[in-house]
Amino acid sequence: MIRQATAADIPDLARVHVEAWRQTYAGHVPEALLAPERVEFRARMWTAILAGGEGPYLALVAPDDRGALAALGLFMPASEAPAGWDHEIRSLYLLRHIQRRGIGAAMLAQGRDWVRARGGRNLMAWALDANTGAQDFYRATGAVEIARREVPAGNATLAEISFGWDPV
Ligand SMILES: CC(C)(COP(=O)(O)OP(=O)(O)OC[C@H]1O[C@@H](n2cnc3c(N)ncnc32)[C@H](O)[C@@H]1OP(=O)(O)O)[C@@H](O)C(=O)NCCC(=O)NCCS
Repeated sequence: MIRQATAADIPDLARVHVEAWRQTYAGHVPEALLAPERVEFRARMWTAILAGGEGPYLALVAPDDRGALAALGLFMPASEAPAGWDHEIRSLYLLRHIQRRGIGAAMLAQGRDWVRARGGRNLMAWALDANTGAQDFYRATGAVEIARREVPAGNATLAEISFGWDPV
């Protein structure tokens, strides 16, 4: 039921990405980052990625019980990782109604397989400091904390923690 994303998924990817952000981050990030208008930004992002313009990637999607796209995972070479980390989870979002059924762990396993097949050594991900659910998930799947950072977001500053699987 997990499959690779295609260009036909772009409208659903964009909608689910924004909805998952709202479910995950409401009250923790500036409201502008959760606004419905962000769907257009996400559609442009997914269009660029699936066209290959952002480099190599593994983009996964999964449906809910009714067949609607409800989960996405995006694995890429590292662009925002501390030195020594070569691959990152760029996005991993499940809508709330399909969480805690093993889909996130299954997507992560496929991402790790993809990194290994590319000859990558390790994999990391950033999580918002307030997102303890994601941190628990990363720890439960064998990751360890590797770094902390603060990133500007609008008029706010967001604290983030990174986790890594090394070797992947
Ligand atoms: C975090 C996320 C990707 C995990 O995927 P999932 O399919 O829900 O999680 P799984 O069912 O694969 O969980 C595997 C294990 O991780 C741990 N875990 C997962 N979610 C957890 C949570 N919210 N709180 C505590 N532990 C959690 C548990 O140990 C779980 O095993 P169990 O259910 O048998 O107890 C998913 O819940 C999600 O998309 N959450 C919202 C968005 C988000 O935070 N994304 C990450 C951004 S950095």
